[in-house]
Order: sequence, then C-alpha cells, then structure tokens
Amino acid sequence: MSVSAAAPSGPSSYQVRTWMAAAIAGMGGLLFGYDTGMISGAQLFIEQDFDVSAGGIGLVVSAVTAGALVGALLSSGLTARWSRRAVIALSAVVFIVGAVAAAAAPSVAVLVAARFVIGLGIGFASTVVPLYIAELVPVASRGSMVALFQLAITLGILVAYLVNAAYADDGEWRAVFALACAPATVLLLGMLVLPESPRWLFAAGREDEARRVLETLRDPDDPQTARELEEIRATVEADRARPRESLARALTSPLARMILVVGIGLGVFQQITGINTIIYYAPTILGKAGLGTESSVMATAGIGGLNFVATIVALAVVDRINRRTMLIGGMAGMALSMAVLAVTFAVDDFDGPLRWVAVGSLLAFIACFAVSWGWGFWVMASEIYPLFIRGQAVSIGNAVQWTANFAVSLLFPILLAAWGGAVLFSVLAGFGVLALVFTYRLVPETRGLTLEEIEREWRRRAGVADDAAAAPAA
Ligand code: BGC
Repeated sequence: MSVSAAAPSGPSSYQVRTWMAAAIAGMGGLLFGYDTGMISGAQLFIEQDFDVSAGGIGLVVSAVTAGALVGALLSSGLTARWSRRAVIALSAVVFIVGAVAAAAAPSVAVLVAARFVIGLGIGFASTVVPLYIAELVPVASRGSMVALFQLAITLGILVAYLVNAAYADDGEWRAVFALACAPATVLLLGMLVLPESPRWLFAAGREDEARRVLETLRDPDDPQTARELEEIRATVEADRARPRESLARALTSPLARMILVVGIGLGVFQQITGINTIIYYAPTILGKAGLGTESSVMATAGIGGLNFVATIVALAVVDRINRRTMLIGGMAGMALSMAVLAVTFAVDDFDGPLRWVAVGSLLAFIACFAVSWGWGFWVMASEIYPLFIRGQAVSIGNAVQWTANFAVSLLFPILLAAWGGAVLFSVLAGFGVLALVFTYRLVPETRGLTLEEIEREWRRRAGVADDAAAAPAA
C-alpha cells in the first residue's frame, strides 16, 4: 500500500500531504507548458540541422497538439479501466519515451513521430491530473489546488523560454528536449508513492482503502471528514442503483448533454479567444507591430513572466471569489484587449507610440487570461462532470479543447497573412463577446460545493431524479 501508515501528527500534516500530492501531480502541467514554450526556440535550430521545409516545421510544431488530442480521447478508455494514478504514471512513461526519441531523432520524420508521442503523454496528463487532484483535495481549497496545474503550465512555458535563451547561442536543441525527462521522472516516481483518488477507490468497490486514504489526507476527528465519506458513498451507491446503461447512452442522456455543452464550450472558448496566438506567435505579432527581433524576444520573455506571476495572484484568490465572476470579468478584459490590438493594426502606424499600445494590449490580454480562463477551464473541467461519466466526459471535453488549440495554431499564421491583423483580432474579440454570453447564460457556480453537490445541482437543473439526496446522512 502506497499510503504511509504512520499516525498523522496534526492538522497541518494533512494539508502538507495534500499539497505534496497536488504539486507532484502538477508536474504533468509542467511538461505540458515546457513543451508548449520550447518549440518556438528549438525550431530555428531544427531547421538548420535538417534543412527542412516550412511545412515540415509546421508538422514538428503541431504534432504535439495532434498527439494530445488523440491522448485525451484515449484517456476515456483508460480511465474506465485503470485508476487515476496508473493513467498518470503511464503519461509520464509515454512522455519520457517521446522526449528521448525526439532528443535522438536522426530525421525529421522520427522527430515528428516523437513529438506526436510526447503529445499523447500530454493528452493523458492534461485529462487525468486535474481530475485526480479534484478528487483528492478538500472542497475549500479545490480551486487553488487544481489551479496549481495551470501554474505548472505557465512555469513550464517560462522555463522553456529561459532554456531557449540559454541554449540559443550553441543551438543545442537535443538537450532542450532531453531536459523534459527530469520532471517526467518526478511525476512517475511520485505516482508510485502518492495515494490513489479516494473517489475512484470507492467507485471501484475498494471502500476500506478509500477510507484509509481519506483519513491520511483529512483529520479523522473532523466531522467534515465523515460527512465527505458519507457523501461519496451516497453518490456511488445511487449510481450503482441506477439501471445500467451503455456508456454511449449515458453520455447522450439529456443530463450529460447539458453538462457536456458547458464543458466543451469552456474548452473551445478558452482557445478560440486567442491565447495561443500570443503564446506561440508573440514574436510574429510584435514583429508586425514594428518591434525588432531582440525587443520581440525580450517582450516574449516578459509575456511568459507575466503569465506566471498573474497565475500566482489568481491562485491566491481563486477560492474566495466566485468562479463565474472571474470568468466573466477576465473574458471582458480579454475581449477588450483584443479589440484594442485590432484597432492598432487598423491604424497601422507603428512608428510612434502606437506600437506600445499594441504591446500593452498583448500584456493586458495575458494578465486577464491568467487570472480567469487559464485556470478556469482546467478547474471547471475537473469538477462539473458527475461521477457516472466523469472520466469519459473530461476526456471528450479535453479532446475538443486540444482540437481547438490545434486549429488555432495551424490557422493563425495563414489567416494573419490573408486577412491582416485588424480583421483577425476583431474576430477573436468577437469570439470573446460570445464567450461572455455563453458564460453568463450557461456556466454554473461551483465554488464551495462538493463534487457530489455539484452533481445534485445539475440534476436539479435538468429536472432529473436525485437519488443521492435521499440516501441516509452520516
Ligand atoms: C491553455 C494553453 C495555454 C496556456 C497558457 C492553458 O490553460 O490550455 O493552451 O497555452 O494556458 O498559459
């Protein structure tokens, strides 16, 4: 049994254990971010080493997002059979295999295949890590704990920008790839010693283990711990009592459809409002706004730093401010920043101060994203789905989110050339307005509710019988 049997020494030791588990699992986010950020620099040297075409480089860059969307889809089958921990460990192994293959790649074809494998690992991790954390931590800190995943993503992006800068002189792109094995190894070793998700254990019929795990993470003398166990039991039992239906039927039931619309909408809007046009292409945008190469690279590093720092700020307040308030406020700022960027491109006079307005609008967009939709999508995706479809629905929602990411990163340079910045950034701002309407009308508030209470709220909205509520209380 991987959970320490030692008697807990006091309340803080429960918190330390939970934080450790969330932080180690969050390594999955670091891998995700590192890989997102590193390729912008590495591609320049890969181009020189392999004498590859622009199309070939496009494939090297986008293979990760393609792999991630396949990985997210496959997670559905994996989470139905394997425990959360096992799937996360698998993601680390797959990632290490991909990173080693990429570092040693003798040709572009091998490199593209290796990047696809890395993407598979990221797809698994991005689906199961937030789920695992949400199922492990107490309700009062669930937002900030799952948001650790986003913090790890932004740290990964920042580290990658810095590693890129450090290796820029000697073109050591193979070392840049190999470095990613370090956090993947921490993730793998972590999964060997961290506890299993108590909610998963319960659902798998391993009730005693679930109780033991929960009691190493929560104070057994706190009445809230007994209540939490009872609530998990009631939900699992109500779930078992329902007539068995195929997964496909469960996923297409009116209740599941209603929830999937929200989950998928959150992922699509997180992407199509433009975050990765900045994360992947900031130097291109800044170049068009008249900045020299060196200033563009500096400003890009600044964007990475701001993204990380603003996420720390978000983490501090995430469990104190309603999720909806942050999503709506953040998106209003994002849409406005995009609109301002569009105006600077429409005026198109970047010799004067206007270029700094363009830089400022990029920075404002990043700050608004980091305090809202950055963590918001991952946190909501980990908590809105009811247990009976949780693993599968998260996987579908994430696969669609990765598809949107893939489409945006592929289309952005093409549309920028075809339409110009004024039109393209206006369209992104328009998507922001749609995202506002969507959030206001459809996204529920989840802060302060247990996963079981959230499920009950959905059933109430859909007018579906709530058998868990009828189960006996502790
Ligand atoms: C998004 C990524 C993005 C990153 C930037 C994440 O929440 O899913 O696509 O690159 O935030 O910080």
